[in-house]
Order: sequence, then structure tokens, then C-alpha cells
Amino acid sequence: MKVDVLLGMQWGDEGKGKIVDVLSPDYDIIARFQGGPNAGHTLEFEGIKHVLHTIPSGIFRDGVLNIIGNGVVIDPIILLKEVSTLEDMGVDVRSKLLISKKAHLILPTHKLLDKASEEAKGGKKIGSTLKGIGPTYMDKTGRNGFRVGDLLSEDFEQRYRALVEKHRHLLSLYNKQDEEIPETEWLKAVQWLKTMTIVDSEHFLNKAVKDGKKVLAEGAQGALLDIDFGTYPYVTSSNTVSAGACTGLGIAPNRIGEVHGIFKAYCTRVGSGPFPTELTDDLGALIQKKGNEFGATTGRPRRCGWLDLPALNYSAMINGVTHLHMMKADVLSGLDEIKVCTHYKTAEGKTSDLPFSIDEGKVEPVYVSFPCWKEDLTGITEYRDLPKELNAYVEFIEKSTGIPMSIVSVGPDRSQTIARQALVA
Ligand code: GDP
Ligand code: IMO
Ligand code: MG
Repeated sequence: MKVDVLLGMQWGDEGKGKIVDVLSPDYDIIARFQGGPNAGHTLEFEGIKHVLHTIPSGIFRDGVLNIIGNGVVIDPIILLKEVSTLEDMGVDVRSKLLISKKAHLILPTHKLLDKASEEAKGGKKIGSTLKGIGPTYMDKTGRNGFRVGDLLSEDFEQRYRALVEKHRHLLSLYNKQDEEIPETEWLKAVQWLKTMTIVDSEHFLNKAVKDGKKVLAEGAQGALLDIDFGTYPYVTSSNTVSAGACTGLGIAPNRIGEVHGIFKAYCTRVGSGPFPTELTDDLGALIQKKGNEFGATTGRPRRCGWLDLPALNYSAMINGVTHLHMMKADVLSGLDEIKVCTHYKTAEGKTSDLPFSIDEGKVEPVYVSFPCWKEDLTGITEYRDLPKELNAYVEFIEKSTGIPMSIVSVGPDRSQTIARQALVA
């Protein structure tokens, strides 16, 4: 059995949580492969909205196991809060959640370092979620990190102190050596973490695959925030692309099956960094308002703009996307027209390939316009009932990418999902 992957094709917040929840009854295991509590994955059903940060989005489905993979970075305080909130709602998290021994831990000092680094960058700040993501992955690749499995070792306390001392030194480079380190809650939370089911997740997953179990790897962030292929340096610190599912779960490349690419009918970005199709006018503000485009983790307003096909095609290429899922078409209902960027004008001429830099002034988007659909889509349940203007938009995107559109999402609720074909073999 192959492992399917689901990921964001833009700058995050495409609606990954919703689609994982929709697809999860078809899977035995949902496994998060990278990122950490910088993510906010929203799902809605029975009139309740849930936001998950570290826990995979299959947690509400009976009979589905959820794994936090080795590629994820965990803030035990945030994870404890997430688990408690779900338990208060009656979700039996303990029996459905496994945590990799090799996942790295976010320390309180990682968060202080994240903040200090951002402050020092001034006008060039990344717009990090300040969850300590960058410094934790730096410690991982710098071979200083602290893993969940290390909590089980006898010298845990000593090793923790040694890393905190290193961080204190680094903080002194930012003149922040006197910052108070809020560690009491963290130390309590790691004791709690030890009571959860901690596993060798790479062994567990490979055995499950061998036994014919269906696994869906859930990505966080989006391809344009990838550390290698995103709009560097305005990116996150992990590989958000499909290859990240291999390293973040211990799954061999030849085991990867379908790749579900999630994108919005327009584009959003939260935090700093280039965004060629950004609408900084009233229309951008209108889409932000209609789409309720405010971050699920930080509450920050998301910048809004038109769909960017060079970026979408780049993402499709890097990820090997086999199914497209378009979200939030309902938000655009009633606009006079919608635009799609098909090319960029650059100093070297016109291109539909995403250039090395898409910084302001380097590329000028070239658009085609479409008449917009006027109908309220949120109650439509069948593909054939979608307005013809939306059909034309979908077909244009399919033609441009060469990839079939499998889902058109018309609202935040689980039920507001229009599938065009059987999604899971
Ligand atoms: P994720 O990080 O990719 O899981 O996405 P987020 O949860 O951060 O952001 C997506 C937002 O859009 C959430 O508030 C969802 O409830 C909402 N959403 C998802 N799909 C749709 C849709 O088709 N229409 C509308 N109007 N909202 C949607
Ligand atoms: P989900 O999984 C949108 C952005 C931040 C910032 C940059 C680096 O919900 O789609 P970091 O805290 O990772 O160092 O921040 O990445 N960012 C996200 N934007 N959705 C996310 O996750 C994001 N996670 C990080 O805003 O620009
Ligand atoms: Mg999100």
C-alpha cells in the first residue's frame, strides 16, 4: 500500500485541515510530517469550529490513528492544551494519538530566541509566528536538539540545562541574556508528554504500510514557505513539500502514492515576503473580510491577492501533485470579475516559470480576466449545479496545470465539499 500526501500549494492556510478531515474516513492513519504549532488547521462540523496546531486533522474520526511524525517540532505546553481541549469535548485522544520519539522539542528558550532574532531583523523580519520554529530546527540541524525520546533518558535534566545554557549565551548576543525563562509550565508539560504513547514512528508506519493500511501524510504550511523552494528567506524552517513526507515520517520515496494539492481560488499570505499578485486596494480588503482571512494561530490579517499560476504550477511540479482541491470559491461569489496571473514580465522577458526571485520590482504579473459567478455557492452539493463561470475557471486551471480538480470546496464545513471523482483508490 502507498502513502498518500496532502499539502498546501501556496503560502499556507489553504484549507488543509478541512480536506484531511474530509478524506480521513478513507484512511487508517493520518501522520503529520513537519512544522509545529506555527500551523493552525481548521475544521468545522456540526456547527463547531476546531483549530489544531500539532495534532493531525484525523483526530475526530473513529477508527483513525493519528501520528505526530519525527519531522514535527513539538511545544509540549501547546500540545497539552490541544489534547485537554479535545478531551473536554469527549474526544478520546489518548487511544488515537501516537508521538514519534524522534520529533524535536521546542524549549521556552527557542521561543525567546525566535523573538530576539525577529526583533534584530527590524524591517526585514520574517513575520514568524514566534512559536520557536526556526531556532528549534536550527538546533536539530546543528545537532544540539532535544527529542521526545530523550525525555526517557536518565540524564534528561542535565541535558536540558546544558541546552538552556547554550541558548542563554545566544540570547546574550542579542543583549537578551536577562530574559526570564518561563520553564515551570514547560517542565510540567514534558512530564505529561511522557505519559502519552511515544513510539518509533518510522517502524510503526512502515509496518502499517506493509500490512496494507492506508496512510495519509498531512503537511503544514505550504510549498511557497518551503525552506528550499519557498520565497527564501521569507519561509519557514522545514521542508513543506511532498519530499518532506519521506524525511518527516521515514517513508521511502517509492512508497509515495497520490499527492493531494490544496489551494485557494485566490491567494493569501500571512507574515512578510514577496507576493506579486497581492491586492493592496479595497478589493483585497473585501476578499479578506468575505474570506475571514485572519490567521488561525496568530489572528494576524492575511494579505490577499489573485491566483498565481506560475507559482501554482511550480508547486505542482516540485510536489508531483496528482489531485487538485480548490478551496473558498464561495468567497469570490458576486465579484465583477476575477483575475489570474498566467505569466510574469521580468527583465529577461515574459515567463510562466517561477523565477529565482519574485521580489517587488523583479516581476510584473500578467493577468487574464474571467467573469465571476454571482450565485451563493455555500448550499450547492453537486458539481453539475455549480455556475458555468466557476466551471470555466476550474477547467482553465486544470488545463494550465494538467492536473484534475478533485474537490471544489464551497464553505468551511465538512459538508460543503463537492467531490468530482473517487479520491482514494
Ligand atoms: P490550513 O492551515 O490549510 O488548514 O487552513 P486554515 O485553517 O489556517 O485556514 C483556512 C480557513 O478557511 C479556515 O478558517 C477554514 O474554516 C476556512 N475554509 C476552508 N475551506 C473553506 C471554503 O471552501 N470556504 C470558506 N468560506 N472557508 C473555508
Ligand atoms: P498552516 O499549516 C500560514 C508563516 C509565518 C511567517 C513564516 C515563518 O496553518 O498553513 P515560522 O513561525 O514558521 O518561523 O514563520 O511562515 N507561516 C505560516 N503561514 N500558515 C501556516 O501554517 C504558517 N506557518 C508559518 O507567518 O511568514
Ligand atoms: Mg492554517
